[in-house]
Amino acid sequence: MEPFTTRPSPQLVGGPGSLAELPSCVRKSGGQNVLLVTDQGVAAAGHTERAAALLEDAGIACAVYDGTSENPEESDILAAMEFARRVGPDCFVGLGGGSSMDTAKGCNFLLTNGGAMSDYKGYGAARTPLLPFIGIPTTAGTGSECQSYAVISRDRSHEKMACGDPSALATYAILDPDLTASMPHRVAVLTALDALAHSLETAVSTRRNSFSSAYSREAFLHISSAIEPVLRGEASAIERNGMLMGSAFAGLAIENSMLGAAHASANPLTASCGLAHGHAVALMLPHVIGLNQEVPEARETYAHYGTLLSSCQGADCGVRAWVEHLLTVADLSPLAQCGVDPGLLAELAEDATRQWTGQFNPRSMKREDFAVLYENAFDGAATQDT
Ligand SMILES: [Fe+2]
Repeated sequence: MEPFTTRPSPQLVGGPGSLAELPSCVRKSGGQNVLLVTDQGVAAAGHTERAAALLEDAGIACAVYDGTSENPEESDILAAMEFARRVGPDCFVGLGGGSSMDTAKGCNFLLTNGGAMSDYKGYGAARTPLLPFIGIPTTAGTGSECQSYAVISRDRSHEKMACGDPSALATYAILDPDLTASMPHRVAVLTALDALAHSLETAVSTRRNSFSSAYSREAFLHISSAIEPVLRGEASAIERNGMLMGSAFAGLAIENSMLGAAHASANPLTASCGLAHGHAVALMLPHVIGLNQEVPEARETYAHYGTLLSSCQGADCGVRAWVEHLLTVADLSPLAQCGVDPGLLAELAEDATRQWTGQFNPRSMKREDFAVLYENAFDGAATQDT
């Protein structure tokens, strides 16, 4: 029984068609002049135009920045900030995946507090409260709408920095499942696997507490009942909504309990080898579960989660076996076929030890442990059921 303090949640507005609540959320946040941060894919799907029209029809000024890049870097945030400086918004809206929401948050830091993103690495470095921010996910994976962190990569090294502040948390998060219908299949697959990893990593993190564990468990229940149809490209509207709820619950869990070694080992694969975040996390996850089983509390949690699975649909149940079954369904390329040079594994392991998120893994992780994880993932090592 460790002491803990929970962190607040945004006000959550959800359900089909709930994007229509955006003007009301902006008004209640005190905004009259919005900078809507998004990307070109979301704009092409028509969501940006619809959100902007809703605001304009309600008499709220709206400027659109659609230059968000995947895995935004410091220079991407500076470019968005230059745009924001010309607009002079009193409220940010992030519409898209984690990259759009994190770009909006990063831009909010720099516009209100100046300096560089690296000045805000960690938590609570903003001297002036940030402007109100509203998060609207169009993917079901990152849970960024429920987190007070912007994940921004350094230019050149691509090292991910988690930049957090209490005032970076969204005032409102709008969870409209109609918006996730436009996701390309590969994006739906990778974001779903990322959300699954969030629910499982937060469930065993050393920072977990009774409240974060409730978020993790609820996330896992939603995600586990919806993920297989998503991976098969056969998700119903109810299953897409389940993934969106699960992703948001997992975001709340991260906000309260952090992540673990699957994210710590995935980040160097993204930075050095260009693997998409969800792909890298998914490949590492079963191996991390295997290692974490050495810790009795983690083993118990995995065993409990195994009992929550209504059906393993072909897999011999146990959380690790089920995750591996999902990877087969998702048809992800294994690490050995992703252009990762086996000679790089030692360097990747060194990098993984520097990832902030790894310190919350239930089993303490040294360079040699990460090296074993990579070797197992690289060879597709035989698994043990949990
Ligand atoms: Fe993630």
